[in-house]
Amino acid sequence: MHSVLNLFSTLSKNEITYEKLGELTRSIDVHRLDFSKNADDYEKSEASDYYRDIKLLDPLEVAVLYWPPEAASAIHFHSGFYGYVLVLDGEGENIEFSFKEGKLKQLRTLCCRKGGIMNEPDGIIHLIRNSSKTNALITLHIYYPALENLDGLTLFDPVTKNMGTLNEKAANASFREPKENFKYFRENAFVFEGQNAKGNSHFVYPILPKPSSEEISEMLQSYYNEQAKEYDSFDTQHQSRTAYTRAINKAIADDFENLKPKMVLDIAGGTGRRSEEIRDLCSSEFGVSILDMSESMVQEAIEKGFEGIHSTYLDHELRPEYYDACYFLYAFGHVPNSEERFETLRKIYKELKTGGRFYFDVFNIENKNEWGLTAKSIHYSHGLNYMGYDEGDVFYKKNGGNAVAYLHYFHATELEHIIQKIGFKIVSQRNIGYVKNAGEWTDNPAEGNLFYILEK
Ligand SMILES: [Fe+2]
Repeated sequence: MHSVLNLFSTLSKNEITYEKLGELTRSIDVHRLDFSKNADDYEKSEASDYYRDIKLLDPLEVAVLYWPPEAASAIHFHSGFYGYVLVLDGEGENIEFSFKEGKLKQLRTLCCRKGGIMNEPDGIIHLIRNSSKTNALITLHIYYPALENLDGLTLFDPVTKNMGTLNEKAANASFREPKENFKYFRENAFVFEGQNAKGNSHFVYPILPKPSSEEISEMLQSYYNEQAKEYDSFDTQHQSRTAYTRAINKAIADDFENLKPKMVLDIAGGTGRRSEEIRDLCSSEFGVSILDMSESMVQEAIEKGFEGIHSTYLDHELRPEYYDACYFLYAFGHVPNSEERFETLRKIYKELKTGGRFYFDVFNIENKNEWGLTAKSIHYSHGLNYMGYDEGDVFYKKNGGNAVAYLHYFHATELEHIIQKIGFKIVSQRNIGYVKNAGEWTDNPAEGNLFYILEK
């Protein structure tokens, strides 16, 4: 802790900027930092959930906060100060809001673990909470200027819709402060719009730093196992998704009329539903190996008569030059990072016969109707570029679900570069509507997903 305090105490006030503090915060090696995990070493207060230990007040504020399980701050509006929060231990969430014309709207939630950094620019409205039911969260806070008191800090309560601005007597950003510590207080002061207000089925949930490739695979397994039984019906019940998958299945079946494959590899084929449909749309007969990392889905595929392989693709050696065709539908973007995406395409190339074809679709970072543009903007505004992320990396949750999934949104140019490096020839690349104009092919590069047919 001594070296951290040195880092900040030697700053002169005129060199302190939001960017500079970010740079210094990121330079801290969280694994070598000494701090107490004992709640008794922190100063407690009746009015707040969290305990604190203020380390420095000049030229800026450095404090360590201890958050018991499920502790949270009130939603508060930063006016005239900024800073960063570095997670030292445990797992916390930074939930961001906007407030306009009497409406408080929940924007996004970021999950931060050890080494993860929450950004608190001037003007942000947010809360921090310990998302664990069992473990403490310990965080290092760096703020400029130091808060001599909380005069002028505005708080929101989304349950009671109360809104209050603290005065100089307040010591905590909390509605538990006595009434005389507010200079302004109004009941029923605003309308609250939560994350699920628009009825979206899924929402973006960045995890900082980016989890390892192994952890992402485990997360995806839990995500799809959770849904194995309902997944096929979830897909078919959503008309847009059906139109989308049907159009791609049809494009593959049409191409098969000329290719006439004998053996096909279906990577991340789940229960084999897509392969069944492609077979139905096609006049020629072919065998299919279904590979999937969800054991329960592979089991269902085997029950349908397919050859089933329970594995992640890179971990399972297949016969070289064996398959006439391969498809990796909807899921190539689940491969956790650019190195593994490259390895995956290289392995597919190896396992295809010469002249064999590979079909796949990916999410398009330029699609204005999807999460690509969000991913692109928060990549820089929230420092994900410093947290192991590639531009286009998205973690998300299903509403009401616990498991988190990962998906990469692609630039067409990024893919073309890899494809050509491996030696594949691009037979066709087309854009196809996903949620908007589902299943309709389009020439607009800012619409739809990308569908590729490659040839070895
Ligand atoms: Fe804050």
